[in-house]
Amino acid sequence: MAFIVKKKIHGKEYYYLNESKRIGKKVKTKTLAYLGKTRKGAEKKAKDIIKKLKQEKEKPEIKKQKTKLTKPEISIEDLAVFCKRRGFIYQSGEIYGGFAGFWDFGHLGSELKNNIKQEWWNFHVYQRDDVVGIDGSIITHPKVWKASGHVDSFRDFLLVCKKCKKKRIVDKSELGKVKCECGNEYEEKTAREFELMFKTKVGETGETYLRPETAQLIFINFKSVYDNARMKLPFGIAQMGKAFRNEIAPRDFLFRSREFEQMEIEYFTKPDQKCLYQIPDIEISIYSADAQEKNKESIKIKIKDALKKGIIKKDWHAYWLALEFKWFKDLGANPENFRLRQHKKDELSHYSTDCWDLEYKFPFGWKELEGIADRGNYDLLQHEKFSKQDLKIFDEDSKKKILPYVVCEPSLGVERAFLVFLLDSYFYDENRKNIVLKIHPKLAPIKAAVFPIIKKPMFEKIAEDIVKDLSKEFNVVYDKRGSIGRRYSRNDEMGTPFCITIDEKTPKDYTITVRLRDTTEQFRIKIKDLKEIIRRAIDGENILKFGKLVNTRVK
Ligand code: GAP
Repeated sequence: MAFIVKKKIHGKEYYYLNESKRIGKKVKTKTLAYLGKTRKGAEKKAKDIIKKLKQEKEKPEIKKQKTKLTKPEISIEDLAVFCKRRGFIYQSGEIYGGFAGFWDFGHLGSELKNNIKQEWWNFHVYQRDDVVGIDGSIITHPKVWKASGHVDSFRDFLLVCKKCKKKRIVDKSELGKVKCECGNEYEEKTAREFELMFKTKVGETGETYLRPETAQLIFINFKSVYDNARMKLPFGIAQMGKAFRNEIAPRDFLFRSREFEQMEIEYFTKPDQKCLYQIPDIEISIYSADAQEKNKESIKIKIKDALKKGIIKKDWHAYWLALEFKWFKDLGANPENFRLRQHKKDELSHYSTDCWDLEYKFPFGWKELEGIADRGNYDLLQHEKFSKQDLKIFDEDSKKKILPYVVCEPSLGVERAFLVFLLDSYFYDENRKNIVLKIHPKLAPIKAAVFPIIKKPMFEKIAEDIVKDLSKEFNVVYDKRGSIGRRYSRNDEMGTPFCITIDEKTPKDYTITVRLRDTTEQFRIKIKDLKEIIRRAIDGENILKFGKLVNTRVK
């Protein structure tokens, strides 16, 4: 019990708030606060302090939630099993024994894929005033593929070792240069050639190909887009869509498939035009062609410093390399799993003079995630030559007609990005004993799950109303079946960042609890604020500042 005491020191009065407590047989007194020199002031201060102390006592102690997230080693086969079990991806044609190199996206997979594509488009098109989009046809004029060089160069070769007879697939640039792992030569005379493009019939007699890249549709539409979209150099044209390659040996789950999607930009500049933008301040491991040829290690360096040191030759190239890596990093991918590797001279495609791959450390090793090539003016020149059309544009500054250059072509496969985001977000919680897919809320297939805890119509009606309202804006699920623990773990595995529960307090004060996937912390907020809070949390605001942390039995 707290009480006021007056003390006289050198003739002057001072007031204090003391508290006495019985501990065993003794009563112990301690001073809680100094209250000033007047009785009136002291009484007021004491009243406030006692009120605060009482509130503190009534507040339940919030126990720190315990999570123990670990990063399990996961093979690409394990990931494929997880994706099938959770409804992300199915082998295409499985009921007929499967169809190698083709995959179907399930209810969670199609959501994740759409979110990746939407985030890519937001970042590369909507948030820039120098990039516009197109959506070209999958089947196009056969001359396009002759002009682009694909008909003559886009093929792989199957080699057989002279000694051990082991087979290996190589591309044209590797012919005559590679040896078998056993140290012996390949039999070049028996090399079997595989055209990588899918031929298709058009009408009764026509023949063409399914596009092996989306890029060519950008080049052949370049002049029209330039005229219609009122763009000025430098500017980019973006496109997302299906591409098809008749891979000899599709493998590693989605990594090498025969039907996939690309997200590409052709960024057009004047010849020798300087980069107009600041290079993002971002560090990454860089593995130059020179380092590879001299058997040196990659180095960790800021991309802008690699440009200054001449490791990356062109400013536009450095700019796009940094931007592409930043896109992954901002969406929660682990930067330690990325590096930039320059193509060696003999690796370069027929169209590029310099190319850097953004590589990722997949479970089967460092592999290309995204190619960022300098295509120069190769493609526009080729299409001018084959179409006999003038694709040059008038440059107001030099008052001359020019054929723009593509110093940078960021080209990313949607499925490879899909693998990266799944691999980097795949965790296991030792305490919860379930997988937690710690995926960025912007990419999460389902943004929120709504659970009534009590099986009564009144609670279920509130839950249904919440779902109805939230689903106008977000992909939300309603789940009233099974134990609350099972419902949480199911959603942890699906990557649902927010689980909302309607409990015994909800009908009394119109509040609900929101549980966070990564920490299992729960806090209570008003139903009317829920939508705005989810919106802001998806955008990256710390959700905990919006409500009161609470204790609940099930984490
Ligand atoms: N327009 C340039 C171009 O197509 P690429 O390096 O052949 O360049 C670009 O392909 C990206 O497309 C790759 O970095 C990869 O992400 C994706 N990609 C290529 N072949 C693929 C395949 N067979 N399966 C899945 N993704 C593939």
